[in-house]
Amino acid sequence: MARTRVLIDTDPGVDDAVAIFLALASPEIEVVGVTAVAGNVPLAKTVLNARRLLDLAGRDDIPVAAGCAEPLSEPVVEDSVVHGRDGLGDLEWDEPRVTLDPRHAVDLIADLVREGPLSIVAIGPLTNLAVLLQRYPGIEREVEGLVIMGGASFQGNVTPAAEFNIWADPEAARQVFAADWPLTLMPLDLTHQAYLVDEDLEYFASLGTEIGRRTAAMLEPYAQFHDRWYGNRDVIMHDAMAVYELIDPAAIDKQGVRVDVEVDGVHARGATFIDRRREHAASPVRVGLAVDNDRFRQVLRERLASLRDTEVD
Ligand code: BDR
Ligand code: CA
Repeated sequence: MARTRVLIDTDPGVDDAVAIFLALASPEIEVVGVTAVAGNVPLAKTVLNARRLLDLAGRDDIPVAAGCAEPLSEPVVEDSVVHGRDGLGDLEWDEPRVTLDPRHAVDLIADLVREGPLSIVAIGPLTNLAVLLQRYPGIEREVEGLVIMGGASFQGNVTPAAEFNIWADPEAARQVFAADWPLTLMPLDLTHQAYLVDEDLEYFASLGTEIGRRTAAMLEPYAQFHDRWYGNRDVIMHDAMAVYELIDPAAIDKQGVRVDVEVDGVHARGATFIDRRREHAASPVRVGLAVDNDRFRQVLRERLASLRDTEVD
């Protein structure tokens, strides 16, 4: 089976952590790089968290590079109220042995595109990808596929109109959606269908691995946040949906669309306009519509159970 070469652009983030573990555990995917962007927490923390997560999985062979510390325009990135002050649920971590690649994130991505077919999973604000387009004009046509977690049709989660990854850098998102690449979007309307329950957290904790224990521990404050915010402890797996699309594309129903981003609105800055009218049915830009959560949870359980803690040399 040919494995899809994947670069993950991320702002970990506890649901980013689950997405990264799912990718590392999946034989359909070869993770060839991880790039960090400021988002859930400032860049220094997202870089450290990316190194921590690969270290835990014993994957010092995968380059980690730092990207953009600030969005193309305001606002300034602050610590998260959702993911803990450190972005990973405020657990204790050893200093990771995974080192930082000296290249800027966008230069690492460009190098990986030159080396072979590359798909990009973008699960943070889209600043790095906008800068990639600016620095390497035309590179979008060489990327095999781009899957983005972001946006919402029905309702945002930072404002009534805007989802976090788009709200955090609307100008970057607008540039990314305007470029000519085969793009699949996983908005909140889809990701809220994919959630874990307490039984899943108990399952991860009982796996007997540090990855399992830490995944459960990271997700506990996230469940508590959801309880305060939405009135139940369902743990929404936003970012894992972008990885799941590359593991089992048939599992998520999709439709051709056109996407644009509001950058000027008083109330709607960062809103995504996902145009589902039939004229876009054959568009290379698609949006995820529906997913079977029981099937997803089963895959996630199996994959995380297969990830063993490995010592980095
Ligand atoms: C997105 O925002 C972040 O908090 C999550 O990691 C996810 O990427 C969901 O709106
Ligand atoms: Ca994220």
